[in-house]
Amino acid sequence: MTMKRTEIDALLNSDSEQSDVLIQGWVRTRRDSKDFFFLELNDGSCLKNIQIVVTRETEGYDDLKAVGTGASVSVRGELVASQGKGQKWEAQAKTISLIGDSCETFPLQKKRHSLEFLREIAHLRPRANLFGAVFRVRSRLSFAVHSFFQERGFHYVNTPIITASDCEGAGDLFKVTALDMDQPPRSEEGAIDFSKDFFSQPTYLTVSGQLEGEAFATALGKIYTFGPTFRAENSNTPRHASEFWMVEPEIAFCDLQQDMDWAEEFVKSVIEDVLDTCKDDLELFFNFVDKELEKRLRFVVERPFSRVSYTEAVEILLGSGKKWEYPVEWGANLQSEHERYLTEEHFKSPVTVYDYPKDIKPFYMRVNDDGKTVAAMDVLVPGIGEIVGGSQREERLKILQENMKAHGVSEVDYSWYLDLRRFGTVPHAGFGLGFERLLMFVTGVGNIRDVIPFARTPGTI
Ligand code: 4AD
Ligand code: MG
Repeated sequence: MTMKRTEIDALLNSDSEQSDVLIQGWVRTRRDSKDFFFLELNDGSCLKNIQIVVTRETEGYDDLKAVGTGASVSVRGELVASQGKGQKWEAQAKTISLIGDSCETFPLQKKRHSLEFLREIAHLRPRANLFGAVFRVRSRLSFAVHSFFQERGFHYVNTPIITASDCEGAGDLFKVTALDMDQPPRSEEGAIDFSKDFFSQPTYLTVSGQLEGEAFATALGKIYTFGPTFRAENSNTPRHASEFWMVEPEIAFCDLQQDMDWAEEFVKSVIEDVLDTCKDDLELFFNFVDKELEKRLRFVVERPFSRVSYTEAVEILLGSGKKWEYPVEWGANLQSEHERYLTEEHFKSPVTVYDYPKDIKPFYMRVNDDGKTVAAMDVLVPGIGEIVGGSQREERLKILQENMKAHGVSEVDYSWYLDLRRFGTVPHAGFGLGFERLLMFVTGVGNIRDVIPFARTPGTI
């Protein structure tokens, strides 16, 4: 049996010296002295490096003397109390060997790089401290999402990625086709004949798993999805990606009030989880990304979110005395500048805006008694704006059919969705949380491209 390596995280948290450990990782830096040198080694298990002391007595000393940043090495030796400042433990190498060499062209030499530059080397940037921290937090946050729902009796549903429906009706769909694009089959009128395509009809990458989620919520009671979603919207902003992950709970026997409660509890709970479990990585964000971050996260966890109707929000915006790039008037969508004013300047806290005008929202939202608004809600947070969008769904067959007509949604194509109202319909509600937006909020990282492993945005893949 070969010896198993001990991860650096475990070594640095050791409560005693250890006489024989195997450490494998990548060299961050080398510092030379006359008869020995230090290696700072990182293996991704945590933010911190372990210091390796290599002396002339170390077997392999001569081969490793010139080892550079980025190389992978294997060290066998002793874990001992460190003489140096800032670390409890270090390793005295008995033997050291090179696994994979590196060279001066390795781009992550010890100096600060711009985030733009690091985006161009997305395959190497996880080896930089900031990105190691981002992606460890991302992993833990995923786990917290599952824990939150599993602990509360929700069932995890995998909704399809290839779909024939357009949930949001915004038209920003990526088409999926197996047709020969140079010579597609055409109808007599000259249009592309999708009946000859792979699925015998036009198909897309999903923009949301909600509609399929509703089918499962009206069977399993409480469900959630957590998966990739795709939007072909040409929005070149720090908050929009073409491929992003969405968390979508859907809850039967639930109204808008309860939906807002769920969203608030959820956001608080997952943030609290990472505050408890990702301390070292968060320290990096607190110290180097955003000095206000820790205060903001604790505030969000401890204090209730503000709640305001869309109509009241419009009044606040109109009364603000601010000059807006996009005009504010009842019936128009809230733009990012408006959302950020509400959460950052007016309420100075996360705020849930509810009861939006019917005409700017998708066909599935429940019409309120005023006939003008729908039971929709968005959660807005400082620095980002919208992080959650949700609604109570229209459970009344006749009204849903009217809404579909008004939105030009085909009853034939969505007859399965109408069945959910024909057979044992119930009030139900849900929401979608943009996972990358949550991660931006938790880390303070300002660009969505830097919290997703390989970002897909307009013009860039
Ligand atoms: O508000 P949206 O479009 O809502 C839905 O898709 C509903 N079907 C959700 C539901 O009720 N089940 O999207 C939900 C969230 C937004 O609040 C935002 O956080 C995120 O998804 N989002 C994006 N994140 C990154 N890039 C984009 N292009 C995004 N578009 C939406
Ligand atoms: Mg939205």
